[in-house]
Amino acid sequence: MNLFISFVHHFTKMMSMDLKNCAFLILFAFLILCADFGACYARNSMPWRQSRIHLSSVMDKGHSSHHNHKKHNTPLAPAPAPKPKPKPPAPMPVPAPAPKPKPKPPAPAPMPVPAPLAPAPSHKNSTTFNVQDYGAKGDGQTDDMKAFLAAWAAACKVEASTILVPSGSIFLLSPISFAGPNCKPKIIFQLDGKIIAPTSAKAWGSGFLQWIEFTKLTEITIKGEGIIDGQGSVWWKDAAVYAGTDTSQNIPSTGQNRANELNNMVSTQISAELSKMPKTKPTALRFYGSTDVTVTGITIQNSPKMHLKFDSCTNVHVFDISVSSPGDSPNTDGIHLQNSQNVLIHSCNLACGDDCVSIQTGCSNIYIHDINCGPGHGISIGGLGNGNTRACVSNVTVRNTVMRNTMTGVRIKTLQGGSGSANNIMFSNIQVSEVETPIVIDQYYCDKEKCKNQTSAVAVSGITYANIQGTYTVQPVYFACSDNSPCTEISLATIQLKPHQTSHHLYGPFCWKTYGESKTSTVPPIDCLQKGNPSNAPSKIASCQV
Ligand SMILES: *[C@@H]1O[C@H](CO)[C@@H](O)[C@H](O)[C@H]1NC(C)=O
Ligand SMILES: *[C@@H]1O[C@H](CO)[C@@H](O)[C@H](O)[C@H]1NC(C)=O
Ligand SMILES: *[C@@H]1O[C@H](CO)[C@@H](O)[C@H](O)[C@H]1NC(C)=O
Repeated sequence: MNLFISFVHHFTKMMSMDLKNCAFLILFAFLILCADFGACYARNSMPWRQSRIHLSSVMDKGHSSHHNHKKHNTPLAPAPAPKPKPKPPAPMPVPAPAPKPKPKPPAPAPMPVPAPLAPAPSHKNSTTFNVQDYGAKGDGQTDDMKAFLAAWAAACKVEASTILVPSGSIFLLSPISFAGPNCKPKIIFQLDGKIIAPTSAKAWGSGFLQWIEFTKLTEITIKGEGIIDGQGSVWWKDAAVYAGTDTSQNIPSTGQNRANELNNMVSTQISAELSKMPKTKPTALRFYGSTDVTVTGITIQNSPKMHLKFDSCTNVHVFDISVSSPGDSPNTDGIHLQNSQNVLIHSCNLACGDDCVSIQTGCSNIYIHDINCGPGHGISIGGLGNGNTRACVSNVTVRNTVMRNTMTGVRIKTLQGGSGSANNIMFSNIQVSEVETPIVIDQYYCDKEKCKNQTSAVAVSGITYANIQGTYTVQPVYFACSDNSPCTEISLATIQLKPHQTSHHLYGPFCWKTYGESKTSTVPPIDCLQKGNPSNAPSKIASCQV
Protein backbone atom coordinates (compact mmCIF):
# COMPACT_ATOMS: atom_id res chain seq x y z
CA MET A 1 0.00 0.00 0.00
CA ASN A 2 2.84 2.35 0.82
CA LEU A 3 4.36 1.64 -2.52
CA PHE A 4 1.11 2.35 -4.17
CA ILE A 5 0.85 5.66 -2.38
CA SER A 6 4.36 6.59 -3.28
CA PHE A 7 3.54 5.74 -6.84
CA VAL A 8 0.63 8.16 -6.73
CA HIS A 9 2.88 10.73 -5.16
CA HIS A 10 5.52 10.41 -7.80
CA PHE A 11 2.98 10.37 -10.49
CA THR A 12 1.68 13.80 -9.49
CA LYS A 13 5.20 15.05 -9.86
CA MET A 14 5.57 13.37 -13.18
CA MET A 15 2.59 15.21 -14.50
CA SER A 16 4.53 18.43 -14.46
CA MET A 17 7.43 17.23 -16.51
CA ASP A 18 8.03 17.51 -20.15
CA LEU A 19 8.49 14.89 -22.78
CA LYS A 20 12.23 14.89 -22.68
CA ASN A 21 12.06 13.34 -19.30
CA CYS A 22 9.62 10.81 -20.50
CA ALA A 23 11.92 7.86 -20.99
CA PHE A 24 13.33 8.47 -17.61
CA LEU A 25 9.92 8.72 -16.08
CA ILE A 26 8.64 5.61 -17.67
CA LEU A 27 11.55 3.70 -16.28
CA PHE A 28 10.92 5.28 -12.94
CA ALA A 29 7.26 4.43 -12.92
CA PHE A 30 8.09 0.97 -14.11
CA LEU A 31 10.46 0.42 -11.25
CA ILE A 32 7.91 1.55 -8.74
CA LEU A 33 5.32 -0.66 -10.25
CA CYS A 34 7.68 -3.54 -10.43
CA ALA A 35 8.48 -3.17 -6.80
CA ASP A 36 4.78 -3.15 -6.19
CA PHE A 37 4.12 -6.16 -8.33
CA GLY A 38 7.01 -8.14 -7.03
CA ALA A 39 9.72 -9.26 -9.35
CA CYS A 40 7.17 -10.06 -11.99
CA TYR A 41 8.85 -8.53 -14.97
CA ALA A 42 12.38 -8.54 -13.79
CA ARG A 43 13.24 -11.42 -16.00
CA ASN A 44 12.47 -9.57 -19.19
CA SER A 45 15.41 -7.29 -19.52
CA MET A 46 13.89 -3.86 -19.58
CA PRO A 47 10.82 -4.47 -21.70
CA TRP A 48 9.92 -0.82 -21.29
CA ARG A 49 12.78 0.11 -23.49
CA GLN A 50 11.44 -1.67 -26.46
CA SER A 51 7.93 -0.44 -25.92
CA ARG A 52 9.18 3.09 -25.63
CA ILE A 53 10.72 2.91 -29.06
CA HIS A 54 7.55 1.67 -30.68
CA LEU A 55 5.18 3.93 -28.89
CA SER A 56 5.19 6.94 -31.17
CA SER A 57 4.85 4.99 -34.35
CA VAL A 58 2.00 2.96 -32.97
CA MET A 59 0.24 6.09 -31.84
CA ASP A 60 0.60 7.67 -35.26
CA LYS A 61 -0.69 4.60 -36.97
CA GLY A 62 -3.67 4.54 -34.66
CA HIS A 63 -4.63 8.13 -35.22
CA SER A 64 -4.87 7.68 -38.91
CA SER A 65 -6.50 4.30 -38.98
CA HIS A 66 -9.00 4.30 -36.15
CA HIS A 67 -9.87 7.79 -35.26
CA ASN A 68 -11.33 10.28 -37.59
CA HIS A 69 -9.79 13.59 -36.83
CA LYS A 70 -12.36 15.90 -35.45
CA LYS A 71 -12.60 19.36 -36.86
CA HIS A 72 -12.82 21.00 -33.49
CA ASN A 73 -9.78 20.65 -31.41
CA THR A 74 -10.88 19.67 -28.02
CA PRO A 75 -8.42 20.76 -25.41
CA LEU A 76 -6.51 17.58 -25.01
CA ALA A 77 -3.36 19.36 -24.07
CA PRO A 78 -1.53 17.87 -21.14
CA ALA A 79 -3.32 18.63 -17.95
CA PRO A 80 -2.38 21.65 -15.95
CA ALA A 81 -0.04 20.08 -13.51
CA PRO A 82 -0.89 20.32 -9.89
CA LYS A 83 2.76 21.10 -9.13
CA PRO A 84 4.42 23.18 -11.80
CA LYS A 85 8.02 22.79 -10.65
CA PRO A 86 9.72 19.93 -12.43
CA LYS A 87 11.86 18.21 -9.91
CA PRO A 88 14.65 15.93 -10.92
CA PRO A 89 13.67 12.38 -10.21
CA ALA A 90 15.42 10.40 -7.56
CA PRO A 91 18.77 8.85 -8.42
CA MET A 92 18.35 5.67 -10.30
CA PRO A 93 19.76 2.48 -8.93
CA VAL A 94 20.09 1.00 -12.39
CA PRO A 95 21.95 1.81 -15.58
CA ALA A 96 20.58 4.91 -17.23
CA PRO A 97 18.23 4.30 -20.14
CA ALA A 98 20.56 5.49 -22.86
CA PRO A 99 18.21 5.34 -25.83
CA LYS A 100 19.67 2.96 -28.33
CA PRO A 101 18.27 3.25 -31.80
CA LYS A 102 17.99 -0.49 -32.14
CA PRO A 103 17.39 -2.30 -28.90
CA LYS A 104 18.05 -5.96 -29.24
CA PRO A 105 14.80 -7.82 -29.33
CA PRO A 106 14.66 -10.17 -26.39
CA ALA A 107 14.49 -13.15 -28.69
CA PRO A 108 15.91 -15.95 -26.64
CA ALA A 109 16.29 -18.32 -29.54
CA PRO A 110 19.23 -18.40 -31.87
CA MET A 111 17.82 -18.55 -35.34
CA PRO A 112 20.39 -20.04 -37.65
CA VAL A 113 17.85 -20.26 -40.43
CA PRO A 114 18.25 -18.83 -43.90
CA ALA A 115 15.72 -16.38 -45.24
CA PRO A 116 12.24 -17.85 -45.67
CA LEU A 117 12.49 -17.78 -49.46
CA ALA A 118 15.52 -19.99 -49.62
CA PRO A 119 14.93 -23.65 -50.48
CA ALA A 120 13.50 -25.33 -47.45
CA PRO A 121 16.36 -26.70 -45.42
CA SER A 122 16.22 -29.81 -43.39
CA HIS A 123 14.51 -28.85 -40.19
CA LYS A 124 16.13 -31.48 -38.11
CA ASN A 125 18.45 -28.96 -36.64
CA SER A 126 16.43 -25.87 -36.88
CA THR A 127 14.49 -24.22 -34.14
CA THR A 128 12.20 -22.51 -36.64
CA PHE A 129 9.12 -24.29 -37.89
CA ASN A 130 7.50 -22.64 -40.88
CA VAL A 131 3.87 -23.63 -41.24
CA GLN A 132 4.33 -23.74 -45.01
CA ASP A 133 6.82 -26.56 -44.58
CA TYR A 134 4.06 -28.49 -42.90
CA GLY A 135 1.61 -28.11 -45.73
CA ALA A 136 -0.06 -24.78 -45.06
CA LYS A 137 -1.31 -23.36 -48.36
CA GLY A 138 -1.84 -19.78 -47.30
CA ASP A 139 -4.27 -19.22 -50.14
CA GLY A 140 -7.03 -17.84 -47.92
CA GLN A 141 -9.36 -20.68 -48.92
CA THR A 142 -7.86 -23.99 -47.90
CA ASP A 143 -8.21 -24.79 -44.22
CA ASP A 144 -4.65 -24.78 -42.91
CA MET A 145 -5.55 -25.89 -39.42
CA LYS A 146 -3.93 -29.33 -39.72
CA ALA A 147 -0.71 -27.88 -41.08
CA PHE A 148 -0.55 -25.42 -38.19
CA LEU A 149 -1.09 -28.23 -35.72
CA ALA A 150 1.69 -30.27 -37.34
CA ALA A 151 4.09 -27.35 -37.13
CA TRP A 152 3.03 -26.79 -33.55
CA ALA A 153 3.63 -30.42 -32.64
CA ALA A 154 7.18 -30.09 -33.93
CA ALA A 155 7.84 -26.71 -32.31
CA CYS A 156 6.40 -27.92 -29.05
CA LYS A 157 9.22 -30.43 -28.63
CA VAL A 158 11.99 -27.87 -28.86
CA GLU A 159 12.76 -25.31 -26.22
CA ALA A 160 12.77 -21.72 -27.46
CA SER A 161 11.52 -22.75 -30.86
CA THR A 162 9.79 -20.47 -33.31
CA ILE A 163 6.68 -21.35 -35.23
CA LEU A 164 6.65 -19.08 -38.26
CA VAL A 165 3.58 -17.81 -40.05
CA PRO A 166 5.25 -16.01 -42.93
CA SER A 167 4.16 -12.73 -44.42
CA GLY A 168 2.58 -12.47 -47.84
CA SER A 169 0.04 -15.23 -47.31
CA ILE A 170 -3.44 -15.53 -45.87
CA PHE A 171 -4.08 -18.61 -43.80
CA LEU A 172 -7.62 -19.80 -43.23
CA LEU A 173 -7.87 -21.60 -39.91
CA SER A 174 -10.83 -23.40 -38.45
CA PRO A 175 -10.95 -23.34 -34.63
CA ILE A 176 -7.61 -24.44 -33.25
CA SER A 177 -5.93 -25.04 -29.91
CA PHE A 178 -2.18 -24.77 -29.41
CA ALA A 179 -1.96 -26.79 -26.29
CA GLY A 180 0.71 -27.46 -23.75
CA PRO A 181 1.13 -28.66 -21.11
CA ASN A 182 3.88 -30.94 -22.33
CA CYS A 183 5.48 -28.39 -24.61
CA LYS A 184 8.91 -27.02 -23.93
CA PRO A 185 8.95 -23.44 -22.69
CA LYS A 186 9.78 -20.25 -24.56
CA ILE A 187 7.97 -20.96 -27.79
CA ILE A 188 7.60 -17.97 -30.08
CA PHE A 189 4.65 -17.77 -32.41
CA GLN A 190 6.01 -15.44 -35.06
CA LEU A 191 2.99 -14.05 -36.85
CA ASP A 192 3.93 -12.06 -39.92
CA GLY A 193 1.19 -13.18 -42.28
CA LYS A 194 -2.55 -12.97 -41.92
CA ILE A 195 -4.81 -15.54 -40.32
CA ILE A 196 -8.53 -15.47 -41.08
CA ALA A 197 -11.48 -17.28 -39.54
CA PRO A 198 -14.01 -19.28 -41.53
CA THR A 199 -17.36 -17.63 -42.15
CA SER A 200 -19.37 -20.70 -43.00
CA ALA A 201 -21.65 -22.04 -40.31
CA LYS A 202 -20.41 -25.53 -41.04
CA ALA A 203 -16.88 -24.74 -39.87
CA TRP A 204 -18.23 -23.77 -36.46
CA GLY A 205 -20.34 -26.82 -35.80
CA SER A 206 -22.38 -26.31 -32.67
CA GLY A 207 -20.15 -23.46 -31.56
CA PHE A 208 -16.76 -22.74 -30.00
CA LEU A 209 -15.91 -20.47 -27.08
CA GLN A 210 -12.81 -19.35 -28.89
CA TRP A 211 -11.31 -19.50 -32.34
CA ILE A 212 -7.57 -19.59 -31.59
CA GLU A 213 -6.49 -20.84 -28.21
CA PHE A 214 -3.15 -21.14 -26.46
CA THR A 215 -3.44 -23.20 -23.34
CA LYS A 216 -1.25 -24.44 -20.48
CA LEU A 217 1.99 -22.98 -21.71
CA THR A 218 4.98 -21.42 -20.05
CA GLU A 219 6.80 -18.46 -21.56
CA ILE A 220 4.75 -18.25 -24.69
CA THR A 221 5.12 -15.26 -27.01
CA ILE A 222 3.10 -14.12 -29.99
CA LYS A 223 4.83 -11.42 -31.93
CA GLY A 224 5.14 -10.06 -35.42
CA GLU A 225 3.42 -7.67 -37.72
CA GLY A 226 0.68 -10.04 -38.75
CA ILE A 227 -3.06 -9.87 -38.50
CA ILE A 228 -5.64 -12.09 -36.88
CA ASP A 229 -8.97 -11.42 -38.55
CA GLY A 230 -12.09 -13.02 -37.08
CA GLN A 231 -14.27 -11.96 -40.03
CA GLY A 232 -16.93 -11.38 -37.42
CA SER A 233 -19.48 -9.42 -39.39
CA VAL A 234 -21.43 -12.58 -40.13
CA TRP A 235 -21.98 -12.98 -36.40
CA TRP A 236 -22.61 -9.40 -35.38
CA LYS A 237 -26.00 -9.18 -36.94
CA ASP A 238 -27.16 -12.13 -34.93
CA ALA A 239 -29.56 -10.59 -32.45
CA ALA A 240 -30.39 -13.83 -30.77
CA VAL A 241 -27.78 -13.10 -28.15
CA TYR A 242 -28.68 -10.20 -25.93
CA ALA A 243 -26.08 -7.55 -26.50
CA GLY A 244 -25.51 -6.76 -22.83
CA THR A 245 -26.29 -3.09 -23.03
CA ASP A 246 -26.02 -0.89 -20.06
CA THR A 247 -29.53 -0.77 -18.82
CA SER A 248 -29.06 0.25 -15.25
CA GLN A 249 -31.85 2.37 -13.91
CA ASN A 250 -30.64 5.90 -13.97
CA ILE A 251 -27.98 6.05 -16.56
CA PRO A 252 -29.09 8.22 -19.43
CA SER A 253 -29.16 6.23 -22.61
CA THR A 254 -29.35 8.91 -25.20
CA GLY A 255 -25.89 8.35 -26.55
CA GLN A 256 -24.75 7.18 -29.89
CA ASN A 257 -23.38 3.85 -28.76
CA ARG A 258 -26.68 2.93 -27.28
CA ALA A 259 -28.46 3.92 -30.43
CA ASN A 260 -26.10 1.78 -32.44
CA GLU A 261 -26.71 -1.15 -30.22
CA LEU A 262 -30.43 -0.84 -30.68
CA ASN A 263 -30.20 -0.42 -34.42
CA ASN A 264 -28.06 -3.42 -34.52
CA MET A 265 -30.58 -5.54 -32.72
CA VAL A 266 -33.33 -4.53 -35.09
CA SER A 267 -31.44 -5.08 -38.31
CA THR A 268 -30.51 -8.49 -37.13
CA GLN A 269 -33.88 -10.01 -37.16
CA ILE A 270 -33.97 -9.44 -40.86
CA SER A 271 -31.01 -11.36 -41.95
CA ALA A 272 -31.84 -14.94 -42.40
CA GLU A 273 -28.60 -16.58 -43.41
CA LEU A 274 -27.23 -15.86 -40.01
CA SER A 275 -29.58 -18.07 -38.20
CA LYS A 276 -27.26 -20.83 -39.30
CA MET A 277 -24.34 -19.59 -37.22
CA PRO A 278 -24.18 -21.25 -33.80
CA LYS A 279 -25.42 -19.23 -30.82
CA THR A 280 -22.04 -19.27 -29.13
CA LYS A 281 -19.84 -16.58 -30.58
CA PRO A 282 -16.12 -17.25 -30.29
CA THR A 283 -13.45 -15.04 -28.77
CA ALA A 284 -10.77 -14.54 -31.43
CA LEU A 285 -7.63 -15.27 -29.41
CA ARG A 286 -7.59 -16.70 -25.93
CA PHE A 287 -4.84 -17.68 -23.50
CA TYR A 288 -5.75 -20.04 -20.76
CA GLY A 289 -3.80 -21.33 -17.75
CA SER A 290 -0.46 -20.00 -18.92
CA THR A 291 2.36 -18.11 -17.28
CA ASP A 292 4.73 -15.55 -18.72
CA VAL A 293 2.70 -14.68 -21.76
CA THR A 294 3.72 -11.94 -24.18
CA VAL A 295 1.64 -10.60 -27.04
CA THR A 296 3.17 -7.84 -29.10
CA GLY A 297 3.12 -6.21 -32.50
CA ILE A 298 0.11 -7.93 -33.98
CA THR A 299 -3.31 -6.65 -35.00
CA ILE A 300 -6.48 -8.48 -34.00
CA GLN A 301 -9.55 -7.38 -35.87
CA ASN A 302 -13.20 -8.06 -36.48
CA SER A 303 -13.63 -10.70 -33.83
CA PRO A 304 -17.06 -12.32 -33.59
CA LYS A 305 -16.89 -11.58 -29.84
CA MET A 306 -13.95 -10.54 -27.63
CA HIS A 307 -10.66 -10.01 -29.42
CA LEU A 308 -8.02 -11.07 -26.89
CA LYS A 309 -8.76 -12.85 -23.66
CA PHE A 310 -6.58 -14.03 -20.79
CA ASP A 311 -8.10 -16.49 -18.38
CA SER A 312 -6.19 -17.90 -15.40
CA CYS A 313 -2.85 -16.52 -16.55
CA THR A 314 -0.05 -14.92 -14.57
CA ASN A 315 2.65 -12.52 -15.71
CA VAL A 316 1.09 -11.24 -18.88
CA HIS A 317 2.67 -8.54 -21.02
CA VAL A 318 0.71 -7.03 -23.89
CA PHE A 319 2.12 -4.10 -25.79
CA ASP A 320 2.17 -2.45 -29.19
CA ILE A 321 -0.88 -4.28 -30.41
CA SER A 322 -3.94 -2.99 -32.21
CA VAL A 323 -7.51 -4.11 -31.93
CA SER A 324 -9.90 -2.98 -34.59
CA SER A 325 -13.59 -3.61 -35.10
CA PRO A 326 -16.55 -1.32 -35.70
CA GLY A 327 -18.02 0.68 -32.84
CA ASP A 328 -21.35 -1.05 -33.29
CA SER A 329 -20.11 -4.64 -33.31
CA PRO A 330 -21.70 -6.25 -30.26
CA ASN A 331 -19.65 -7.69 -27.37
CA THR A 332 -16.37 -7.23 -29.16
CA ASP A 333 -14.25 -6.27 -26.13
CA GLY A 334 -10.66 -5.42 -26.98
CA ILE A 335 -8.76 -7.17 -24.20
CA HIS A 336 -10.54 -9.16 -21.52
CA LEU A 337 -8.92 -10.32 -18.30
CA GLN A 338 -10.26 -12.94 -15.95
CA ASN A 339 -8.66 -14.70 -12.98
CA SER A 340 -5.31 -13.31 -14.03
CA GLN A 341 -2.58 -11.62 -12.02
CA ASN A 342 0.40 -9.43 -12.80
CA VAL A 343 -0.76 -8.08 -16.10
CA LEU A 344 0.92 -5.21 -17.90
CA ILE A 345 -0.84 -3.74 -20.93
CA HIS A 346 0.52 -0.67 -22.66
CA SER A 347 0.99 1.20 -25.90
CA CYS A 348 -2.05 -0.25 -27.62
CA ASN A 349 -4.69 1.12 -29.97
CA LEU A 350 -8.01 -0.39 -29.11
CA ALA A 351 -11.08 0.34 -31.26
CA CYS A 352 -14.07 -1.94 -30.84
CA GLY A 353 -17.75 -2.26 -30.05
CA ASP A 354 -17.53 -3.00 -26.33
CA ASP A 355 -15.03 -2.37 -23.53
CA CYS A 356 -11.54 -1.54 -24.78
CA VAL A 357 -10.28 -3.41 -21.74
CA SER A 358 -12.54 -5.34 -19.39
CA ILE A 359 -11.38 -6.73 -16.08
CA GLN A 360 -13.38 -9.53 -14.55
CA THR A 361 -13.28 -11.35 -11.27
CA GLY A 362 -10.07 -12.86 -9.92
CA CYS A 363 -7.80 -10.18 -11.32
CA SER A 364 -5.18 -8.35 -9.30
CA ASN A 365 -2.07 -6.34 -9.95
CA ILE A 366 -3.16 -5.03 -13.30
CA TYR A 367 -1.32 -2.09 -14.81
CA ILE A 368 -2.60 -0.46 -17.97
CA HIS A 369 -1.06 2.62 -19.52
CA ASP A 370 -0.72 4.53 -22.77
CA ILE A 371 -3.83 3.17 -24.39
CA ASN A 372 -5.86 4.79 -27.15
CA CYS A 373 -9.44 3.68 -26.68
CA GLY A 374 -12.28 4.41 -29.05
CA PRO A 375 -14.68 3.72 -30.40
CA GLY A 376 -15.75 1.41 -27.62
CA HIS A 377 -17.28 1.41 -24.16
CA GLY A 378 -14.18 2.55 -22.28
CA ILE A 379 -12.12 0.65 -19.73
CA SER A 380 -14.27 -1.34 -17.33
CA ILE A 381 -13.97 -3.40 -14.22
CA GLY A 382 -16.85 -5.85 -14.15
CA GLY A 383 -19.69 -6.56 -14.36
CA LEU A 384 -18.86 -8.23 -11.10
CA GLY A 385 -21.09 -10.50 -9.06
CA ASN A 386 -23.18 -11.92 -11.86
CA GLY A 387 -25.61 -14.60 -10.67
CA ASN A 388 -24.96 -13.85 -6.98
CA THR A 389 -21.30 -14.83 -7.27
CA ARG A 390 -18.40 -13.58 -5.20
CA ALA A 391 -16.05 -11.38 -7.19
CA CYS A 392 -12.65 -10.03 -6.20
CA VAL A 393 -10.62 -7.46 -8.08
CA SER A 394 -7.81 -5.44 -6.56
CA ASN A 395 -4.75 -3.37 -7.37
CA VAL A 396 -5.65 -1.99 -10.75
CA THR A 397 -3.98 1.08 -12.21
CA VAL A 398 -5.04 2.72 -15.46
CA ARG A 399 -3.11 5.76 -16.53
CA ASN A 400 -2.07 7.95 -19.45
CA THR A 401 -4.99 6.88 -21.52
CA VAL A 402 -6.94 8.67 -24.22
CA MET A 403 -10.61 7.88 -24.87
CA ARG A 404 -12.45 9.19 -27.91
CA ASN A 405 -16.12 8.76 -28.67
CA THR A 406 -16.61 6.05 -26.11
CA MET A 407 -19.69 5.24 -24.10
CA THR A 408 -17.98 5.45 -20.73
CA GLY A 409 -14.47 6.42 -19.79
CA VAL A 410 -13.44 4.51 -16.70
CA ARG A 411 -16.12 2.37 -15.16
CA ILE A 412 -16.74 -0.08 -12.34
CA LYS A 413 -19.92 -2.09 -12.69
CA THR A 414 -21.36 -4.65 -10.32
CA LEU A 415 -24.60 -6.60 -10.30
CA GLN A 416 -26.99 -6.69 -7.39
CA GLY A 417 -26.78 -9.85 -5.32
CA GLY A 418 -23.02 -10.35 -5.68
CA SER A 419 -20.41 -10.31 -2.92
CA GLY A 420 -16.68 -9.79 -2.60
CA SER A 421 -14.94 -6.55 -3.42
CA ALA A 422 -13.28 -4.26 -5.89
CA ASN A 423 -10.63 -2.20 -4.17
CA ASN A 424 -7.39 -0.30 -4.52
CA ILE A 425 -8.08 0.96 -8.01
CA MET A 426 -6.59 4.05 -9.57
CA PHE A 427 -7.53 5.87 -12.74
CA SER A 428 -5.15 8.68 -13.47
CA ASN A 429 -4.36 11.01 -16.30
CA ILE A 430 -7.26 10.02 -18.48
CA GLN A 431 -8.10 12.31 -21.38
CA VAL A 432 -11.61 12.00 -22.68
CA SER A 433 -13.07 13.45 -25.83
CA GLU A 434 -16.79 13.26 -26.57
CA VAL A 435 -17.25 10.48 -24.05
CA GLU A 436 -20.84 9.94 -22.97
CA THR A 437 -20.12 9.39 -19.27
CA PRO A 438 -16.43 9.58 -18.37
CA ILE A 439 -16.57 8.42 -14.74
CA VAL A 440 -18.93 5.64 -13.68
CA ILE A 441 -19.48 3.40 -10.70
CA ASP A 442 -22.67 1.43 -11.15
CA GLN A 443 -23.67 -1.10 -8.54
CA TYR A 444 -26.99 -1.60 -10.28
CA TYR A 445 -25.54 -2.79 -13.54
CA CYS A 446 -27.83 -5.17 -15.33
CA ASP A 447 -26.85 -7.25 -18.32
CA LYS A 448 -30.29 -8.68 -18.87
CA GLU A 449 -33.50 -6.93 -19.62
CA LYS A 450 -34.42 -6.81 -15.97
CA CYS A 451 -32.51 -7.54 -12.80
CA LYS A 452 -34.23 -7.94 -9.49
CA ASN A 453 -33.47 -5.79 -6.48
CA GLN A 454 -31.21 -7.54 -4.02
CA THR A 455 -29.47 -6.35 -0.90
CA SER A 456 -25.99 -7.80 -1.13
CA ALA A 457 -23.40 -6.23 -3.41
CA VAL A 458 -19.77 -6.43 -4.41
CA ALA A 459 -18.14 -3.82 -2.15
CA VAL A 460 -16.46 -0.97 -3.97
CA SER A 461 -13.79 0.95 -2.07
CA GLY A 462 -10.50 2.73 -2.40
CA ILE A 463 -11.09 4.13 -5.87
CA THR A 464 -8.93 7.09 -6.92
CA TYR A 465 -9.64 9.34 -9.87
CA ALA A 466 -6.82 11.77 -10.56
CA ASN A 467 -6.56 14.13 -13.47
CA ILE A 468 -9.48 13.16 -15.65
CA GLN A 469 -10.05 15.80 -18.25
CA GLY A 470 -11.83 16.54 -21.48
CA THR A 471 -15.35 16.58 -22.86
CA TYR A 472 -18.49 14.53 -22.23
CA THR A 473 -21.75 14.30 -24.13
CA VAL A 474 -24.21 13.11 -21.46
CA GLN A 475 -23.02 13.24 -17.86
CA PRO A 476 -19.60 13.89 -16.33
CA VAL A 477 -19.79 11.66 -13.26
CA TYR A 478 -22.22 8.91 -12.33
CA PHE A 479 -21.86 7.10 -9.01
CA ALA A 480 -24.77 4.78 -8.23
CA CYS A 481 -23.76 2.79 -5.17
CA SER A 482 -25.59 0.18 -3.21
CA ASP A 483 -27.88 1.11 -0.30
CA ASN A 484 -26.60 -1.79 1.75
CA SER A 485 -23.01 -1.63 0.67
CA PRO A 486 -22.17 1.99 -0.13
CA CYS A 487 -19.01 2.89 -2.02
CA THR A 488 -16.28 4.10 0.29
CA GLU A 489 -12.95 5.91 0.00
CA ILE A 490 -13.77 7.42 -3.35
CA SER A 491 -11.18 10.08 -4.07
CA LEU A 492 -11.31 12.72 -6.77
CA ALA A 493 -8.57 15.13 -7.77
CA THR A 494 -8.18 17.43 -10.76
CA ILE A 495 -11.34 16.50 -12.55
CA GLN A 496 -12.09 18.87 -15.43
CA LEU A 497 -14.95 17.73 -17.58
CA LYS A 498 -16.78 20.03 -19.92
CA PRO A 499 -19.78 19.35 -22.07
CA HIS A 500 -19.02 18.79 -25.71
CA GLN A 501 -20.24 21.74 -27.77
CA THR A 502 -23.09 20.08 -29.57
CA SER A 503 -24.45 18.10 -26.65
CA HIS A 504 -28.00 18.53 -25.45
CA HIS A 505 -29.82 16.81 -22.63
CA LEU A 506 -26.92 17.02 -20.29
CA TYR A 507 -27.06 15.74 -16.77
CA GLY A 508 -25.09 16.98 -13.77
CA PRO A 509 -22.84 14.85 -11.58
CA PHE A 510 -24.76 12.14 -9.78
CA CYS A 511 -23.90 10.32 -6.54
CA TRP A 512 -25.94 7.88 -4.54
CA LYS A 513 -24.51 6.37 -1.34
CA THR A 514 -21.02 7.42 -2.31
CA TYR A 515 -18.51 8.22 0.43
CA GLY A 516 -15.25 9.98 -0.17
CA GLU A 517 -13.82 13.35 -0.97
CA SER A 518 -12.68 15.73 -3.65
CA LYS A 519 -9.07 16.64 -2.95
CA THR A 520 -9.19 19.58 -5.31
CA SER A 521 -11.93 21.72 -6.70
CA THR A 522 -13.43 20.12 -9.77
CA VAL A 523 -15.11 21.19 -13.00
CA PRO A 524 -18.01 20.84 -12.74
CA PRO A 525 -18.23 21.02 -8.94
CA ILE A 526 -18.94 17.54 -7.60
CA ASP A 527 -20.50 18.12 -4.21
CA CYS A 528 -22.56 15.00 -3.89
CA LEU A 529 -19.92 12.82 -2.21
CA GLN A 530 -20.63 12.10 1.44
CA LYS A 531 -17.91 12.58 4.02
CA GLY A 532 -16.54 9.90 6.29
CA ASN A 533 -17.76 6.36 6.37
CA PRO A 534 -21.26 4.95 6.35
CA SER A 535 -22.49 3.16 9.43
CA ASN A 536 -23.05 0.11 7.28
CA ALA A 537 -19.62 0.18 5.64
CA PRO A 538 -19.08 -3.24 4.13
CA SER A 539 -16.22 -5.35 5.33
CA LYS A 540 -14.65 -4.94 1.97
CA ILE A 541 -11.26 -6.56 1.86
CA ALA A 542 -12.03 -9.29 4.35
CA SER A 543 -14.61 -10.69 2.01
CA CYS A 544 -11.88 -11.45 -0.49
CA GLN A 545 -9.15 -12.83 1.74
CA VAL A 546 -8.57 -16.49 1.40
C1 LIG B 1 -2.25 -5.46 -3.68
O1 LIG B 1 -1.12 -4.66 -3.45
C2 LIG B 1 -0.67 -4.66 -2.10
C3 LIG B 1 0.51 -3.74 -2.01
O2 LIG B 1 0.26 -2.55 -2.60
C4 LIG B 1 -0.29 -6.06 -1.69
O3 LIG B 1 0.06 -6.08 -0.33
C5 LIG B 1 -1.46 -7.01 -1.92
O4 LIG B 1 -1.06 -8.31 -1.66
C6 LIG B 1 -1.93 -6.91 -3.37
N1 LIG B 1 -3.10 -7.73 -3.52
C7 LIG B 1 -3.09 -8.81 -4.29
C8 LIG B 1 -4.36 -9.58 -4.34
O5 LIG B 1 -2.12 -9.16 -4.93
C1 LIG C 1 22.62 -30.34 -35.06
O1 LIG C 1 22.16 -30.49 -33.72
C2 LIG C 1 23.02 -31.26 -32.92
C3 LIG C 1 22.37 -31.48 -31.59
O2 LIG C 1 21.73 -30.29 -31.15
C4 LIG C 1 24.40 -30.60 -32.83
O3 LIG C 1 25.28 -31.37 -32.07
C5 LIG C 1 24.95 -30.39 -34.23
O4 LIG C 1 26.17 -29.71 -34.19
C6 LIG C 1 23.98 -29.66 -35.11
N1 LIG C 1 24.46 -29.62 -36.47
C7 LIG C 1 24.49 -28.52 -37.19
C8 LIG C 1 24.95 -28.66 -38.60
O5 LIG C 1 24.14 -27.43 -36.73
C1 LIG D 1 -35.93 -1.73 -7.32
O1 LIG D 1 -35.92 -0.68 -6.39
C2 LIG D 1 -36.10 0.60 -6.96
C3 LIG D 1 -35.90 1.65 -5.90
O2 LIG D 1 -36.48 1.29 -4.70
C4 LIG D 1 -37.46 0.67 -7.61
O3 LIG D 1 -37.66 1.93 -8.20
C5 LIG D 1 -37.54 -0.39 -8.66
O4 LIG D 1 -38.80 -0.42 -9.25
C6 LIG D 1 -37.22 -1.76 -8.10
N1 LIG D 1 -37.09 -2.70 -9.19
C7 LIG D 1 -37.62 -3.91 -9.16
C8 LIG D 1 -37.39 -4.76 -10.37
O5 LIG D 1 -38.25 -4.33 -8.21
